[in-house]
Amino acid sequence: MTPFTKCALIILLTLTMCSLAQSYRLAVRNELGENMTIQCRSKDRDIGRKEISDQVWYMWDFELKYFEYWDCSIWWSQASAKFPVFRPGDAHEGRCAPYYCMWFARRDGIYLFITSTHTYEKKYLWPH
Ligand SMILES: *[C@@H]1O[C@H](CO)[C@@H](O)[C@H](O)[C@H]1NC(C)=O
Repeated sequence: MTPFTKCALIILLTLTMCSLAQSYRLAVRNELGENMTIQCRSKDRDIGRKEISDQVWYMWDFELKYFEYWDCSIWWSQASAKFPVFRPGDAHEGRCAPYYCMWFARRDGIYLFITSTHTYEKKYLWPH
């Protein structure tokens, strides 16, 4: 194998691996009518604590692998909660869309947008 062939092969393999790693988007929208603070984490990634204004999306991407667990904590003036935003299989089982999962923080609870039915389901209450 010439050095050029070897190099071309490595580039081809790298490109293939990159396109196989599917990017998945998680999004949480603040609909609380006031600022909220959010912090989201997986087992090996912490995307930090951020203050999000009312009616603003907070979103981030990760590479969809077989086992992904994402949790978020939200704090606002009335309550705080930690809840699961993504679990293995969520992208394939109708709970979320194949490429994204959308959450809505509202005063009466935390809602998930169910893509298959285009409805909002209240999944978590704010603990008192
Ligand atoms: C709400 O958050 C925004 C963006 O972080 C910030 O600029 C603003 O000062 C905050 N407002 C209040 C009332 O805390």
